[in-house]
Amino acid sequence: MWKHEGNSAMSADDWWRYGTVYQIYPRSFQDSNGDGIGDLPGIARRLDYLVTLGVDALWISPIYPSPMADFGYDISDYCDIDWRFGSLADFDALVADAKSRGLKLILDFVPNHTSDRHPWFIESRSARGSAKRDWYLWRDPAPGGGPPNNWLGNFGGPAWTFDEATGQYYGHSFLPEQPDLNWRNPEVRAAMYEVLRFWLRRGVDGFRVDVLYHLLKDETFRDNPPNPAFVAGGDPSHSLLPLYTTDLPGMQQVVREMRGVVDEFSDGESARVLIGELYLPLQRLMAYYGATKSGLLHGVQLPFNFQLISADWQAAVIDRIVRDYEAALPPGAAPNWVLGNHDKPRIASRVGPAGARVAAMLLLTLRGTPTLYYGDELGMTDVPVAPDQVQDPLERNLPGKGLGRDPQRSPMPWGDGANAGFTDGKPWLPLMAERATCNVASEACDPRSMLALYRHLLALRRRDAALNSGSYEALTGGANVLAYARTHGAQRVVVLLNFGDDDVPIAQTLLPPDAVVLASTGMDRNGSPIGASPTLRAHEGLVLATAAATG
Ligand code: NOJ
Ligand code: CA
Repeated sequence: MWKHEGNSAMSADDWWRYGTVYQIYPRSFQDSNGDGIGDLPGIARRLDYLVTLGVDALWISPIYPSPMADFGYDISDYCDIDWRFGSLADFDALVADAKSRGLKLILDFVPNHTSDRHPWFIESRSARGSAKRDWYLWRDPAPGGGPPNNWLGNFGGPAWTFDEATGQYYGHSFLPEQPDLNWRNPEVRAAMYEVLRFWLRRGVDGFRVDVLYHLLKDETFRDNPPNPAFVAGGDPSHSLLPLYTTDLPGMQQVVREMRGVVDEFSDGESARVLIGELYLPLQRLMAYYGATKSGLLHGVQLPFNFQLISADWQAAVIDRIVRDYEAALPPGAAPNWVLGNHDKPRIASRVGPAGARVAAMLLLTLRGTPTLYYGDELGMTDVPVAPDQVQDPLERNLPGKGLGRDPQRSPMPWGDGANAGFTDGKPWLPLMAERATCNVASEACDPRSMLALYRHLLALRRRDAALNSGSYEALTGGANVLAYARTHGAQRVVVLLNFGDDDVPIAQTLLPPDAVVLASTGMDRNGSPIGASPTLRAHEGLVLATAAATG
């Protein structure tokens, strides 16, 4: 059972509210059979690492049978495991191994689209009169010929592909190999809810729901309007505003239905959870909590909050983001924070090595469930991929625009041996050049490494109720200093994060009485009293508390 001794604020039922989620990109975590591709037995072999790291739940990106046009986000069978990743038996073993260590397991659910090789699509495409024709988005050509409207695919080109045999176009928000399901069709919904039940019965603790906001499209297929903010040369899919393709009325009903399905499997011992992938403005995002007038929350428990991914990395900007987000949350809603994922450049590449330490402290001390992308705990950076080595269809379709996602999917460096301990074969993507020092084995021996910092912060977060479940209070830190307090009962913790290049004095008014450092980003002041003339060094973060109230 998920319960931490001495921490009465946390219960097994709401592990997702107070725990930490760790994202595994399965192709890149650990290979077990020398084919250069990570797999389920590889993940199983590394569970103890994750326990020692101190995370609570694993989210594994798609592992289902797939032609791999989009590396698993094009699924040809929702209820099996791709042979590259292992078998259902390997999966069941992983669930059991995770459970025995108190780790939760979250799968990726990809409801918006299947692979074009999925039997449903093959049947749908076979004839206009097929029983599954309406399971996908089929439209006649525009009156003068060509696609039915101006909608664009997210990976370049139109969102429509012509099917010669039946004379109609099918819609796809992503690649032509990823046809969109028709979520207005009740049979589709029922079939997809059965997919959820299939995995819930096998013991998964929840799902990260891929592009949740895309599921419904405009019933009359109106053109999307131009985006006035579009800059020529940028991602062409941003040239239109997705008014008629995302976040449509009716989505809240779909979300409520999905939540009903996972709730069928929740009990007092352990809640099953939905985490929504939602790139939406703040107020729209909040709607996905599904707050009712009576104050119940019927939506996804964690609508992903991606604001730190796109934020300008300045104290004042982040201060505003956190305050606005806190103020916008419906009563009782669980906040959450994300620094990176398999679609976005890594945090250490965006803000540099010192900034990445400050970012780690931010992620793990804000109020809300943190999601940690594999390898960020080592300070991994984006790994350049030569043009002839590119794997990502986004980079292949739109080369040279900096959109490709291979760099952030580089294999996990476990040691400084051959292929960094990731594989005995040829890794599917290049390893980090700095793997001799940036790897688990080396960093585990260095008390000041990034890994040591992550372990320390995760342990503190788990130990101290102020950090895992305390309230959030914005403080005024000064020009480049983000400052806030977290309080639970008598315990008050103050976090000070210096985003600037200069050392700054810490105002006495910010300090808890008799302050001691619980964590410093340099891992060189932990346990020290802050002293009489305290200083926050350039790019330093500190977690402070009153000496008597710690531990
Ligand atoms: C979002 C996923 O995170 C991304 O990797 C994928 O390419 C698209 N959805 C399409 O499924
Ligand atoms: Ca393998």
